[in-house]
Amino acid sequence: SLVRHYSFLVVLKNETKICGSKFITTVNRKFPGPTLYAREDDTVIVRVTNRANHNLTIHWHGVRQLRSGWADGPAYITQCPIQPGQNYVYNFTLHGQRGTLFWHAHISWIRATVHGAIVILPKLGVPYPFTNPDKEKIIILGEWWKGDVEDMVQKSLVSGLPPTVSDVHTINGHPGPVHGCATNGGFTLHVESGKTYLLRIINAALNEDFFFKIAGHRFSIVEVDASYTKPFETETIFISPGQTTNALLTADKPVGKYLITASPFMDAPVPIDNLTATAFLRYKGTPKNPTIVLTQVPAQNSTLLTDRFIDSLRSLNSEEYPAKVPQFIDHTLFFTIGVGINPCETCVNGVRIVAAVNNVTFLMPEIALLQSHYYKIRGVFTEDFPGNPPFVFDYTGKPPANIQTTNGTKVYRLRYNSNVQLVIQDTAVIAPESHPIHLHGFNVFVVGKGSGNFDPIEDPKGFNLVDPVERNTFGVPNGGWTAIRFKADNPGVWFLHCHLEVHTTWGLKMAFLVENGEGPNESLPPPPRDLPRC
Ligand code: C2O
Repeated sequence: SLVRHYSFLVVLKNETKICGSKFITTVNRKFPGPTLYAREDDTVIVRVTNRANHNLTIHWHGVRQLRSGWADGPAYITQCPIQPGQNYVYNFTLHGQRGTLFWHAHISWIRATVHGAIVILPKLGVPYPFTNPDKEKIIILGEWWKGDVEDMVQKSLVSGLPPTVSDVHTINGHPGPVHGCATNGGFTLHVESGKTYLLRIINAALNEDFFFKIAGHRFSIVEVDASYTKPFETETIFISPGQTTNALLTADKPVGKYLITASPFMDAPVPIDNLTATAFLRYKGTPKNPTIVLTQVPAQNSTLLTDRFIDSLRSLNSEEYPAKVPQFIDHTLFFTIGVGINPCETCVNGVRIVAAVNNVTFLMPEIALLQSHYYKIRGVFTEDFPGNPPFVFDYTGKPPANIQTTNGTKVYRLRYNSNVQLVIQDTAVIAPESHPIHLHGFNVFVVGKGSGNFDPIEDPKGFNLVDPVERNTFGVPNGGWTAIRFKADNPGVWFLHCHLEVHTTWGLKMAFLVENGEGPNESLPPPPRDLPRC
């Protein structure tokens, strides 16, 4: 294995899109940012220099960070921010991981423009467990606001009102033709007849689940979140913020130009969301001004399509790539997630929208949790995060009398190497919506999912403990539940949160503290010398 060195220079840059210019934060003046390439088991060293005018951290989303929690990146969870003018070297090894992941800023909403792909190839000489593609292409889905994103977030925190939704969605940075704006035509995926392409698709949007389609073509899904899957064919890819999907595409249709769409999925009863991002697939040899082959955009609320996609996902579970699903459980946890309201005298309506896990709205600490844990600094967090909801109610029914949440910086302690089963129930009480939940530091097996209230006696009988999909970001359905299992083999402090940034902001987040083990290589090493200070 090799050591790969990268330099990330974080700078502001003027960028023009949809008839307007603004300054955005970028890495190396690129939007989307540079791709990080490595092979399984390589060590990656990224020197991040902050030349922007605000604090910053970078998170390597989906990288296991086995005993390298100091490099994980979420601000105030594993590190204090890199301040303007400072730098920090992220140093981690890609233990037993290969596939597509991504990196993004992990402080406030800076990740709107600070993100890029991580491509981890198999070890040298090891083939993919699927048809070897002729070429590989990266597709990053995102969002763009006309105004300054940080401004908008700060205003919403003061008013207590929801932040404004983005103005357009993007495919590799381009929205495609926008009514009334001269554009450069958007992104084009160039293909040659007869060739097979591996598309590495990343949803880097802040708040939008997407349906992804290419007119006339089907995909074979071979990997999600850097875990191989049993291949299956689909016309429509469903991908939530924080998720990655590798899909094989064969250019076997008549030479021509085909529409690519990334359209929003939204099952909450809210007004129609913003635009479908478009791009084109173009065969080599397509004549000038061809007729574009169009595709039908899925209905925005099509849970039929989301369920069909999610339910088709299975771990490859082959001899080389077995699914190591924990069969016996040490910690059984049940978390409710949802949105509530807290009184707020200064807010527009006298209340502030908040979100919570087991009724706890997580308050960000002022010193990073991992440092506080390592150096035993008292008073930063408490260890009383509830393993069950404070009271039992009909999670999908009428609001209980008390929809207020309590505030706290609480963590849940897990024994080293214990097996954890966590069922997350969406309460669908005041803001019914599905949630892509992301766990740092682990891959999890999604052993079950259902609608309505979770039944702790009946539902576990249907869990898939053989070949459930393995991922780092999993959906909890609107008014339903999802069950995951993982082995707590990574000592440190690990963030769990909704990857819809608006819900994270409102407090839909918590952290696990995983104890050190007793053996050699079972504890968290000391922090690097350049770890930023608060
Ligand atoms: Cu991709 Cu905690 O984030």
